[in-house]
Formats: sequence, C-alpha cells, structure tokens
Amino acid sequence: MGKVYVFDHPLIQHKTAMLRREETTTKDFRDLVKEIGMLMGYEATRDLPLKKVGIKTPMCPTEVDMLAGEDIAIVPILRAGLGMVDGMLSLVPNAKVGHVGLYRDPETHKPVEYYCKMPQDIEKRKIFVVDPMLATGGSAVAAIDFIKERGGRDITFMCLIAAPEGIKALTETHPDIEVLIAAKDERLNENAYILPGLGDAGDRLYGTK
Ligand code: PRP
Ligand code: URA
Repeated sequence: MGKVYVFDHPLIQHKTAMLRREETTTKDFRDLVKEIGMLMGYEATRDLPLKKVGIKTPMCPTEVDMLAGEDIAIVPILRAGLGMVDGMLSLVPNAKVGHVGLYRDPETHKPVEYYCKMPQDIEKRKIFVVDPMLATGGSAVAAIDFIKERGGRDITFMCLIAAPEGIKALTETHPDIEVLIAAKDERLNENAYILPGLGDAGDRLYGTK
C-alpha cells in the first residue's frame, strides 16, 4: 500500500467537523474548504527542499535557508477540487495550476472525463492533486491516470474526507503516490456517498441543488 497520512491537527479536525454540519451555509462551506486546503497545504509542503542563500540583514551578512525553488503544480479535480486551490496558492503563489474535469455518472458511479489541461512541463513538477472527496476512488484514479499519461510522476493526492473503499482503490492502483487526508470516514452508502461524510461537495460549495 502507498503512503497514507491522516492529519490530526486540531484546526484541521475542527474545521472539517464544521464543514460536515448540514446547517453550514454555502459561503461558510466555501471559506472552510479554502482554509482547510491551506492548512493541509502547510503540512504537505513540510519536506520542500531548502538551499543556503547569502543575504545581508541591516546588521551584517549572513547565510539563511530559502526554498530551493522546486516547481509545483496544483491540479484540482473539477468541480469541487477548485475550492481547495486558493488556499494552496496563498502558500505557493508561483505554482502552476492544471485542471482535470470529471463527474460521476449518477447510475454507474464511474467517472466521466470532460476536460484535461496540464502545465506543459508537468513531468518536472511536484504535483498536488486536490479534491475534497475520495469515495469509490474512481475519480482520483482516473485523474492520476491522465496526469501520468502526460508525464506527471511526483504526485500527492490531497482530500478532506475519504472512505476506506476509495483509499484502497487509489493506493492499489497507484501505489507510488502519497495520499493526504483530513478525515477517514466509515463507509459508502448504496449510492456511493460517504457516511457520515458531508453530502455532495460540489453542490455544497457552489449552492447548486
Ligand atoms: C465528487 C468529488 C469527487 C468525486 C468522488 O465529484 O468532488 O471528484 O465525487 O467520488 P468517487 O471517489 O466515487 O469518484 P462529482 O462527481 O460529484 O462532481 P462535481 O465536483 O462536479 O460535483
Ligand atoms: N462525492 C461527493 O461529493 N460526496 C460523496 O459523499 C461522494 C462523492
């Protein structure tokens, strides 16, 4: 199995709990997804390489640690993944953003592709694929298939809520990727929705339905 980490930071746990409540408004839901995206991004970038740089403070010359400038790509799975992009970009403003458009067929629950556009140099970048929900895993598996077909290699998948079924499907199909999760839930229901979950992330984020 690939590397799977469930974040236990209290702020991430608290904000994820607020996200789940059915009375949370569209505006608050959107704000929370952005904030959790940023908090998870902060943890996820912990291992970015540093390099020594010579600078001058007002007092004297010195050597400090600065980011070595590893190139990053953020790839949201449309639509709901878009909600996590701004939080990530506030931490790594120079990152490029690719998009994978997928929706789940309501009958088969299989992902249907409608859009895919990646930064041209995707093969050189550290890639963060973001989507709030990992349910059956079909969408995440398909998105990572597309990214790998276009040369992407160094891939981390970041989601807010994951079902055990989705974690299994994703890590078995793509054992080389890292999976970062805010909360691991119990199971899927008969319509492949996560329990207890938060409902339909795209609808709650954009106020549709
Ligand atoms: C949701 C979610 C994931 C997918 C997860 O998107 O944002 O992409 O479902 O389910 P899976 O693991 O079973 O594939 P949805 O298909 O509802 O599309 P939307 O974001 O456009 O609403
Ligand atoms: N997609 C969602 O938005 N929610 C779920 O619970 C499952 C898939």
